[in-house]
Amino acid sequence: MSDVRVTKRIEFSSSHRYHNPAWGQARNIAAFGACNLSPGHGHNYLLEVTIAGAVSQDTGMVVNLFDLKQVLLDVLVGFDHKHLNLDTPYFSSRIPTTENIATVLWSVLVARPEMAGLKKIRLYEEDDLYAEVTAQRIAGGTAVITRRYHFSAAHRLHADHLDALDNQRLYGRCHGSSLHGHNYTVAVTVGGPIHPETGMVTDLTVLDRLVRETVLARFDARTLNDDPAFARIAPTGERLSKFIWDLLVKQIGEGQLERIGIIETPESSFEYVGGRP
Ligand code: NI
Repeated sequence: MSDVRVTKRIEFSSSHRYHNPAWGQARNIAAFGACNLSPGHGHNYLLEVTIAGAVSQDTGMVVNLFDLKQVLLDVLVGFDHKHLNLDTPYFSSRIPTTENIATVLWSVLVARPEMAGLKKIRLYEEDDLYAEVTAQRIAGGTAVITRRYHFSAAHRLHADHLDALDNQRLYGRCHGSSLHGHNYTVAVTVGGPIHPETGMVTDLTVLDRLVRETVLARFDARTLNDDPAFARIAPTGERLSKFIWDLLVKQIGEGQLERIGIIETPESSFEYVGGRP
């Protein structure tokens, strides 16, 4: 029987500070902004642990979720309500970024015999920022980070080559003569080595500026059909995810663009993984 994946989520709260002791204060502030302020600040982290394995004939389970929760609680004693820089042994020589915390949690969890099937760790620092590591990524010294952005835009789905009846059949309520709007979420996932000086896969300040200038300024509070990219084709979520990939892929500074996600409504989302230049 093929493997089944099981994911358990658990929260913990920690404080941290981004500070590279090899740098002076000005460079630390320039690189990390308010995240450099002493003694630090806190987050409610959400840890997602995915285990893969065969389903037991006896129990019908891959892993006993009560046992798994206990392992996670045991491990998180070392992190929960701690200052990650000051109260744990893991961050004396690396900055407790989301990528590095996920990497440390992987190494601590994988050492436990109960975690033999550990497949993936996803760690949320907040709803709009999370890191992921897998065995393959750990072996390669890489991680991925996903940053989510938001914009609101109007659109209308209409294909020029179809008549009114076929447009109505194809796009239903999303056709029609009037526009409707969505609160779009764009999830930008970047992967690569964790930079030893910053602890980051990609500089989030640079990524934020790029997405703000390239994507949000272009689409927020606009009508997608008025954009030259969608002047003659329907601005579907599929096309939007591919178009945003194309806008960003050559401009990511550190790391590589790995995927673009679009959440159009709570019920509809899209992901695109394209080729790289
Ligand atoms: Ni922080």
